[in-house]
Amino acid sequence: MNILVTGGAGYIGSHNVIALLEAGYNVIIFDNLELGHIETVNTLKSLNTKGSVIDFIEGNLLLLQDVESVFSKHHIDAIIHFAAYSQVAESVKEPLKYYYNNVLGTMNLLSTAIDYDVKKIVFSSTAATYGEPVYTPIDEKHPQNPINTYGRTKLMIENIMDDYDKAYGIKSVRLRYFNVAGADSQNRVGEWHNPETHLIPNILKSTFNNGKVFQMFGTDYDTKDGTCVRDYINVEDLAQAHLLALKYLLNGGETNYFNLGTNEGSSVKEVFDVCEKVTGKKIPVERKPRRAGDPATLIADNKKAKEVLGWTPKKTLQDSIKTAYAWEVELSKRLSNQVK
Ligand code: UFG
Repeated sequence: MNILVTGGAGYIGSHNVIALLEAGYNVIIFDNLELGHIETVNTLKSLNTKGSVIDFIEGNLLLLQDVESVFSKHHIDAIIHFAAYSQVAESVKEPLKYYYNNVLGTMNLLSTAIDYDVKKIVFSSTAATYGEPVYTPIDEKHPQNPINTYGRTKLMIENIMDDYDKAYGIKSVRLRYFNVAGADSQNRVGEWHNPETHLIPNILKSTFNNGKVFQMFGTDYDTKDGTCVRDYINVEDLAQAHLLALKYLLNGGETNYFNLGTNEGSSVKEVFDVCEKVTGKKIPVERKPRRAGDPATLIADNKKAKEVLGWTPKKTLQDSIKTAYAWEVELSKRLSNQVK
């Protein structure tokens, strides 16, 4: 079974490639390496997974001939589509870049898939499609009113997928991630963004001598300790959800959408405390004003994914922070070797 993984050289994509290979699928990675890393592709290619084959095609979703080259080279059974820009603040500053890349890129992918009769796609959506929560935990019936461009691009794609199902019979599963955290348990791949905007890697980077002081954005929210509450879902648990979504589609499942989270919220202060505990270090911190556009609380109701897909997240926040820390140590070694 051949699975096309767009964005397979990126953070979430690469963990999914490992899960797919370990489950016996052949994987074709399509990535333009703008945000993904060739080192990650090389790591994935070197994995010794019995019986499954991996190919990497460097290309851009905005160029139809690049997309076409994937489908003409390989028979594709299904697609998992990760490739996208995903920084909320940047999306507000540069909406054109986001609409163009995320929406148009996906349209190129879908139109080529239709030409080649590939009609099953698992799509990375986001909790950001819900916008400011009207109630928590957020279930899939919660209204979708995104408050930033990033969330709007993802919601547009969800809508396009509904229309394409009606007109062309494309079946999609949209997975709405909450806050993804952690790294591969064997430390082969991990989160590697530049610049890094996410909470856990930023706290952990501040444990290194050359790291900057961690900035805690907002301590006056209406939450248990004044800092924002988020639902941190482990990246390996997330990958297992993608495998189950893929199986659901391959077994003839209808278009559907699921929240991926843990049903539990942790505050920024709580996450910070677990980071100090896991690393055994006193982490330098500076309290700053609120970051624009951050809702106070985002927690998933994940009942639907449990019931329909049979998915249960297994890892704790501490598990995610342990693997994320091991990865940060590895990454800082790699990057300092590059500088030398
Ligand atoms: N935070 C800090 N300091 C930092 C980084 C983050 O205090 O250096 C705080 C933020 O202000 C926020 C919390 O940590 O309160 C979590 O922030 P992240 O940037 O890690 O994550 P977000 O909740 O903003 O966003 C993430 C993804 C989005 C996705 C969203 C959906 O980055 O793509 O989850 O819930 F849309």
